Amino acid sequence: MFEGKLVRLRALRSEDAQHHLRWRNDPEVVRWATAGDPGFGPVTAEAVALGFDTMLRLNPRESAVLTVEDLAGGQVIGMVDYRDLDPYAGAATLGVTIGEREFWGRGHGSEAVRLLVDHLFGAYGLLRLELDTWSGNERAVRAFTRLGFREEGRRRKAVLLDGKRYDSVLFGMLREEWPSRG
Ligand SMILES: CC(C)(COP(=O)(O)OP(=O)(O)OC[C@H]1O[C@@H](n2cnc3c(N)ncnc32)[C@H](O)[C@@H]1OP(=O)(O)O)[C@@H](O)C(=O)NCCC(=O)NCCS
Repeated sequence: MFEGKLVRLRALRSEDAQHHLRWRNDPEVVRWATAGDPGFGPVTAEAVALGFDTMLRLNPRESAVLTVEDLAGGQVIGMVDYRDLDPYAGAATLGVTIGEREFWGRGHGSEAVRLLVDHLFGAYGLLRLELDTWSGNERAVRAFTRLGFREEGRRRKAVLLDGKRYDSVLFGMLREEWPSRG
């Protein structure tokens, strides 16, 4: 469990499936989190349950999905994840979705990512972390940049949303750029 000023990250529980189901069927969340990727949602309760079976069995040495709780109210508000943790390359890929819209733009998602970054650079001693978003997701671009991630590349016009093309934007942070490095 990792705690900041606004949020706590904790291990995934089976009862979190109800929240994932709600977020993945919220078109606004699907839009911002994945640029409308139908692989994310809409989705049935059965499919989420199958996915949870896998997520609950993940080996944290390689990947994990963690639940984000609002510290003030104790409410489940989102999730963070890491995957492709490669101890040889010293790298991993992150993701974040604050599924409760009223918590967007209030710093909760940023703090959740920061706590995960601290954990991965700290406990795992990794050298680089990466994450991506799409160029229309200004909130994510600003949040990641403010956290210390740098743009490392763009897959131009790789994302199609509502008939419009956006870039897929890759961000990376090196251990030496980690703001709270110890
Ligand atoms: C993206 C996300 C993780 C950001 O976390 P957050 O806690 O909401 O972000 P913060 O409040 O810390 O910062 C948001 C930044 O965007 C700005 N912002 C807030 N609302 C905005 C909006 N509607 N449009 C553009 N920028 C906005 C803020 O001013 C801030 O920028 P600043 O630091 O330069 O002032 C979170 O909003 C989220 O999960 N959204 C839904 C799913 C998603 O987009 N996931 C990311 C996919 S890669």
